Amino acid sequence: MPDYLEEVLGACAEDDGELADYIPELASADPDRLAVALTTLDGETYAAGDADERFTVQSISKPFVYALALADRGLDAVLEAVGTEPSGDPFNEISLEDHSGRPRNPMINIGAITTHSLVGTPGCTVEERFERVRSGLSAFAGRELEVDERVFASERAHADRNLALAYMVSSRGIISEDPAVLVQEYTRQCSVVVDVRDLSAMAATLANGGLNPATGVRVLEPWVCRQVLAVMATCGMYDAAGDWLSSVGIPAKSGVAGGIMGALPGQVGLATFSPRLDGFGNSSRGVRICERLSRDMGLHLM
Ligand code: DON
Repeated sequence: MPDYLEEVLGACAEDDGELADYIPELASADPDRLAVALTTLDGETYAAGDADERFTVQSISKPFVYALALADRGLDAVLEAVGTEPSGDPFNEISLEDHSGRPRNPMINIGAITTHSLVGTPGCTVEERFERVRSGLSAFAGRELEVDERVFASERAHADRNLALAYMVSSRGIISEDPAVLVQEYTRQCSVVVDVRDLSAMAATLANGGLNPATGVRVLEPWVCRQVLAVMATCGMYDAAGDWLSSVGIPAKSGVAGGIMGALPGQVGLATFSPRLDGFGNSSRGVRICERLSRDMGLHLM
């Protein structure tokens, strides 16, 4: 398996796209890093390339935090606040449903900021809520994850657009807390540090119905996984979700630091890392690696 993964990285080495620069700290990443990992449902992880390289999880946190919100508040309460329709718009757009005012889905920023507010027991403190997020992400990964304070500070200082999104949601009465605090905590969530092995273990936990195959810990109930995987399939790759589902066919989520995580139900979790992004905010080489893995290994859902 490692030889095959090295071969795939070699075949997808050609790169294009740009580093995310709206978060200054991400613009200083080494653009040439390239890594892939695969976790089977018997808990084995195989990796190749710069697999020890760490990066911030960014939007890949969104499906996992959606899962925590579903587990903590139940399906009805979460659906009342955030929809499940693809927006067809870029990840940082004001994508609210006209009739309800809900963010269209939890994978775009406006929906993910709202979802963060639904984690934890009602009335918990901001600190307790973030600890639920951090420890929840850690349970998916099978190790204790921490925040990159430099990336956090960098994004926090350039969060005007997300602040605007949070105020829009607040104006529709969907959230009741201070939008500025919520954006700060959502930004902290995006700044959790991972590597491709972590992401593929997190993906494998979703693929395995919520049971982390490496640690044996049940992180989620199967119904939560089903809901999360469905929303990843239709909305996880933003306005490229349709192309992705037809060419790769795996429920997935990308992050602006260059990660992609994919979970094929009942089969495998996979992750890639390459920082240059395409026009949709998805890792250019990551998309090509996933297309190749899907084709070679017959991973397409359909
Ligand atoms: O909210 C933001 O803009 C970032 N913290 C996360 C965006 C992101 O990862 C988009 N995905 N490709």
